[in-house]
Amino acid sequence: MDRLRIIGGTPLFGSVEISGAKNAALPILFASILSNQKSVIQNIPLLADINTTLKVLDALGMKTLFKLENQVIEIDGASLNAHEAPYELVRTMRASILVLGPLLARKRIARVSLPGGCAIGARPVNFHLAALEKMGAHFKIESGYIDGFAPQGLKGAEIEFPFPSVGATENILMACVLAEGKSILRNAACEPEIVDLAKALRSMGAKISGEGTPTIHIDGVSSLQAMNHAIAPDRIEAATFLCAGLITRGKITVRGISADFMRSAIDHLKKSGALITEGKNEITAEYSQELAPFHLVTEPFPGFPTDMQAQFMALATQSRGKSKISETIFENRFMHVPELIRLGAKIEIKGNEALVSGPAALSGATVMATDLRASASLILAGLVAEGETIIRRIYHLDRGYEQIELKLSKLGAQIFREKDK
Ligand code: UD1
Repeated sequence: MDRLRIIGGTPLFGSVEISGAKNAALPILFASILSNQKSVIQNIPLLADINTTLKVLDALGMKTLFKLENQVIEIDGASLNAHEAPYELVRTMRASILVLGPLLARKRIARVSLPGGCAIGARPVNFHLAALEKMGAHFKIESGYIDGFAPQGLKGAEIEFPFPSVGATENILMACVLAEGKSILRNAACEPEIVDLAKALRSMGAKISGEGTPTIHIDGVSSLQAMNHAIAPDRIEAATFLCAGLITRGKITVRGISADFMRSAIDHLKKSGALITEGKNEITAEYSQELAPFHLVTEPFPGFPTDMQAQFMALATQSRGKSKISETIFENRFMHVPELIRLGAKIEIKGNEALVSGPAALSGATVMATDLRASASLILAGLVAEGETIIRRIYHLDRGYEQIELKLSKLGAQIFREKDK
């Protein structure tokens, strides 16, 4: 297992190229199941979750080729010959549930290990199952597996999600494009990753309109051709780097992404005192004055993303005054707090609110990463802590940030990957 060693205190300067978005790449790779032709997907980030996705596709019999040098994946839909996503893979990546909609749509049968809870919450899949039932599927849940059947094929339906779940919207959108007749999804998630998935599906011949709004219309087609698509940039990676510039009192430009993907995070960076410059396809955040405290509430898009909550908490530790951070999406997403406190942060948790008092003089220590974004928050804290911070269990980080230590090193950070004992 690897760990990161960071020597804090160096301001970061320079520009960084943003990779393809993990949360767009996963559903889009699974969408290749919908076609019996050879899909080509570009701008794939080099992440552990991508490797897990390829293993899930392999388990379904699909022939995949990852051309690492140009970050392209080819997937042959003709070789699909199985319908099970096994426990060993689903347990390492919950997003494997996204095979359910495509498999039921194309094969009329699917067997997926029931994803368990994870560090940040219970994360049930009831919205996915209820919507697919409305489309004519039925399920048996036994021995830790979801067995889904749609012997008559899926039928288009009008579905209102109880909450704009990202995963449920993606799974059902993928099911609807090959279902018989029209579908309407209401209270759908509006995240940019949904828009990217719709774009990828459209490249296959799917008929979709309204993505990016709460109401999506789909006109089902009987078959889909190969997908040809380049993954959209990762707004969470971009916002994390902008925070790194600000917290270290430096200046960082993220390249290959438009500010429209991340309005709420940028607004909060401005509130904390960053000088923001928006270019056509780049954003710069510059430290120009002592950081100010802020109030942040996580919400579905276009609200503030829960995937940036932990990183902004690190920022709040350096802001003068009291910041309030409310987490409304996941019930247990404050696992980074005790670790930040070990570095010297002053944080009090009251229910789903964290009150952060700053600025705190952080000092390096050994800390444990608990989930993907928590790991990023510990890196940010380590970059300003005095002395040496060791972050253990960074396999979480490798799931979602492409070569983060390399990218940070190029900006001037003293960060080293080492073997953990
Ligand atoms: C996705 C993202 C994750 C992000 C999250 C919220 C991927 C691979 N992951 O996760 O990084 O933090 O969106 O932006 O894209 N819920 C139910 N029943 C369901 C489905 C969801 O109760 O059937 C609840 C969840 O427990 C959670 C909330 O809805 O409290 C939002 O979850 P959801 O949007 O589905 O998150 P994911 O798709 O799992």
